[in-house]
Amino acid sequence: MAKLVALVVLLIIGTALGSPQRKPKGVGAAVGLPGFTDPYIIGGDIVQGRKYPGQISLQVDGDHNCGGSIVNANYILTAAHCSQYEPEELSVLSGTNNLKTGGTRHKVTEIHYHEDYNPSDSWHNDVSVMKVDPPFQFDADGNTAPVTLPEQDIEPPVGAEVTVIGWGRLSYMGELPDDLYEVSIFIWNHSLCNDAYKPDGLTVYPEQICADTPGGNKGSCNGDSGGPLLMENTVVGLVSWARGCDEKGYPTVYTRVSAYRDWIDSKVKA
Ligand SMILES: *[C@@H]1O[C@H](CO)[C@@H](O)[C@H](O)[C@H]1NC(C)=O
Repeated sequence: MAKLVALVVLLIIGTALGSPQRKPKGVGAAVGLPGFTDPYIIGGDIVQGRKYPGQISLQVDGDHNCGGSIVNANYILTAAHCSQYEPEELSVLSGTNNLKTGGTRHKVTEIHYHEDYNPSDSWHNDVSVMKVDPPFQFDADGNTAPVTLPEQDIEPPVGAEVTVIGWGRLSYMGELPDDLYEVSIFIWNHSLCNDAYKPDGLTVYPEQICADTPGGNKGSCNGDSGGPLLMENTVVGLVSWARGCDEKGYPTVYTRVSAYRDWIDSKVKA
């Protein structure tokens, strides 16, 4: 191994800023893998205006921990690795681009993570939904709105331009921003992505997709986990894991939402 890197799920793990360590229950295996980390937005821009009204901040004891997407008035969609908590430890902030100002707070009342979620096998099935209280109010000004989900089993094409958004770190162990960031990247060749991770004993499953830029240095990082990878405003992926934060040659791996459309629909019947 050329150098020590972080290969982990893209939660806020570790504490460059001295905040308490957030190690979700059940994610120990992931965190323990040498060099694997939770992804962050790097090389991106601050989102201007309420362009992403479906984006929420999933918080642990009032601190941002993961991203997520509004599915309907009662449910959000996020990663299973963001969900290994008791409901009363979690809350959702909706309706704002800035973690310090505006928005609406919601309690989490139910957590349903995928029955076959396996953090010790390449975070396979890294998907969950949570019920909130009070329900989201979908206002006429479009400040808060549900996202669009892909149909079951639709595959985003290799090379398609996609956008990832989040409040994650701006660099590996770097600053945690208050503003929502976005960065434009591309769907990566699945078999090349799988080849990249094979030496680490990881498998990129058919239910996962990869995205990157040819030169690296753009992508997601710690704190972006669970948030959306968007293709023309449809949530095609959920930020799951990567080696480092956009380390060159190692695309970020996303849960492919279209593999779980039927599962999500079955859980979020309002
Ligand atoms: C992915 O890369 C492999 C190996 O270079 C190639 O055989 C395959 O056709 C590519 N797939 C797509 C969808 O581009």
